[in-house]
Amino acid sequence: MNGERYAQITGWGMAVPEKVLTNADLARVVDTSDEWILSRTGIRERHIVASEKESTATLALRTARAALLVADVAPTQLDLVIVATATPEYAFPSTASLVQDALGAANAGAFDLSAGCSGFIYALSLASNVIRGGGAEHVLVIGAETLSRITDWTDRNTCVLFGDGAGAVVVSARPERCGVLASVLGSDGSGGDLLILPAGGSHAPASHETISNGGHFVKMNGREVFRFATTVIPKATEAVIQKAGWVLTDLALVIPHQANNRIIESAARRLNLPLDRFFINLDRYGNTSSASIPIALCEAIAEGRVKAGDRLVLVGFGAGLTWAAAAVEWGVPVPVKPQPWPRRWLALLRFGLAAVRSLWLRGGRRVYNWLLGPVGKDDWRGKLRQWMGRWWKK
Ligand code: COA
Repeated sequence: MNGERYAQITGWGMAVPEKVLTNADLARVVDTSDEWILSRTGIRERHIVASEKESTATLALRTARAALLVADVAPTQLDLVIVATATPEYAFPSTASLVQDALGAANAGAFDLSAGCSGFIYALSLASNVIRGGGAEHVLVIGAETLSRITDWTDRNTCVLFGDGAGAVVVSARPERCGVLASVLGSDGSGGDLLILPAGGSHAPASHETISNGGHFVKMNGREVFRFATTVIPKATEAVIQKAGWVLTDLALVIPHQANNRIIESAARRLNLPLDRFFINLDRYGNTSSASIPIALCEAIAEGRVKAGDRLVLVGFGAGLTWAAAAVEWGVPVPVKPQPWPRRWLALLRFGLAAVRSLWLRGGRRVYNWLLGPVGKDDWRGKLRQWMGRWWKK
């Protein structure tokens, strides 16, 4: 590809756990009510993982497969897998590496990105810059969370807000001027304590004390975060449209982080944009952190609110404190024409083969270590040699 390169969103997908937790369900476990939650946040229900078989990685994998199918990109074509998450599968290995293996993305690098609820846009911005700089052709960007696993279900200040889910996009190099045209990233670490998971890291490793103090649950100063969010969404939106060379009236849709209706309403007022220019679906999912924007993007596409040529701003804020915005000129015709069934079948077969590949690699490593591990007189090879030697002398 010669000349200018652009980073276009060519595939997208979302996944949420089946189990739905309504406000009425929550009112049975903490001192709250449907009326309070709905009027203060706009949330009616959220999805949460219900079994040990569901986790951040399983949600991320489901959404990654969906996005690859839409993009018609094979896992082996991916150069990079980025998972933005505040609730990774493990501290290490990265959730992205687990997804890379499960997809069979044999040619991709993989890493997790931690920027709170702004993580997805941080990752999108990075993917776009790597592509535009010529370092990659296809990057898979995922936002995936299981916040229910770090929620204190006795703390009404936080437990009513969050939900689980994942969303992903495939970002691909294109010669046409479209896709992610500008992004802004910001951070103010002085507000780090306002939204924090206090224990489990280097500062306070897991101990009996951290467990009894509830240090492994999310802690938040809601009012301060609210104030921060209402200032930063308009600021980041204005900064990114200026960087893209647009004006506010160019915007077909703003897809904000889905934390609270009142935050979005306040941003709309400050920007002097009608509220219907903002996509809102937090009533059904709550705040799914880094997954909220890609989930909202998928639903906006499914509802016909995004079409080729539209100018969109994706804007988020979160723990750090961080904020981020991306200016995206949509370039893919939607709805996407479904692939002919043999191609779809082939893609599904590839996903199946990736599972076999993963088992093969794990099994192969074990067999290799067993057969060809370090040579010593007590290991298998040493014993075989002794046995062969005795047999030979006879
Ligand atoms: N049910 C009933 N009452 C509740 C409640 C709940 N779930 N949670 C808090 N309250 C109570 C408080 O205890 C407080 O009572 P008090 O006045 O007797 O002390 C009262 O409601 C008002 O609390 P306040 O914190 O002022 O409410 P609020 O209008 O600011 O709304 C949030 C609280 C959390 C909804 C709001 O501050 C918010 O959305 N903040 C941003 C959070 C966020 O987006 N976090 C994620 C960032 S990525």
